[in-house]
Amino acid sequence: MAQIVGGLTSSHIPAVGNAVAKELFDDPYWKPFFDGYPPVRNWLAEVKPDIAVVIYNDHGLNFFLDKQPTFAIGAAPEYRNQDEGWGIPTIAPFKGAPAFSWHIIESVIADEFDLVTCQEMAVDHGFCVPMQLFWPTYEDLGIRTIPVCINTVQHPFPSPKRCYKLGQAIGRAIESYPEDLKVVIVGTGGMSHQLDGQRAGFINKKFDELCMDKIVDDPAYFLDMSINGLVREAGAQGVEFILWLTMRGALTGTVKELYRNYHIPISNTGAGMLCLENQA
Ligand code: DHB
Ligand code: FE
Repeated sequence: MAQIVGGLTSSHIPAVGNAVAKELFDDPYWKPFFDGYPPVRNWLAEVKPDIAVVIYNDHGLNFFLDKQPTFAIGAAPEYRNQDEGWGIPTIAPFKGAPAFSWHIIESVIADEFDLVTCQEMAVDHGFCVPMQLFWPTYEDLGIRTIPVCINTVQHPFPSPKRCYKLGQAIGRAIESYPEDLKVVIVGTGGMSHQLDGQRAGFINKKFDELCMDKIVDDPAYFLDMSINGLVREAGAQGVEFILWLTMRGALTGTVKELYRNYHIPISNTGAGMLCLENQA
């Protein structure tokens, strides 16, 4: 049976894509950010997951304001990156796992989560930047991916509780897949940031630290929070934390924190990263 080996989180700031392309890993601005990732890469090299289920939000590349699904999932053999207008070099496509995607779709729709199914899907920085950070050589490694896309762009957004429950349904779906595959769940985005409006530039370090602590041992802490409450604490785009909560919902076993990193600011954002082990 498929087994969920762990959960990863990472902010998905577009400027990171450029910093990777320019190899600014030791640059004083970027070093405290990039230094968080090598220990996780070593862990991944040991555990060797076959599949990454990547919970992220699209920012207008694949879905625009005219059609905005609350929940969507990829069921494609590959996922292309495309120019989003941030000046980030377009990177190589990611391999899909369509049979596994369809199993998840069958299972979660039976579980009353009606996802939009995408047999073609372009993936933006919300997906690509964390994948590049965790698997810089993803093309050679052959890691296969399943994108799960949640709307954090056009209100109304799904509540923290709804996202956590979707994560639980995804976790049940994965663990009922009959192939012996190792799966890691990635939740991207966050932490606190607001890109526009009166509070543009807003960062809330205290709330970010609380999020990083509570999501490990006490995710229930967030489940009665409203979207507006989350926007208040984390900023309009900090609401991307619901993607982390979805990831956490999918971890069905005993969860142990292995690594974390937090640094402010990176671009406009409180940049956070977590590596959680899921013990069956
Ligand atoms: C930034 C952060 C994001 O999550 C995003 O999607 C775009 C930009 C930023 O900090 O610049
Ligand atoms: Fe974002």
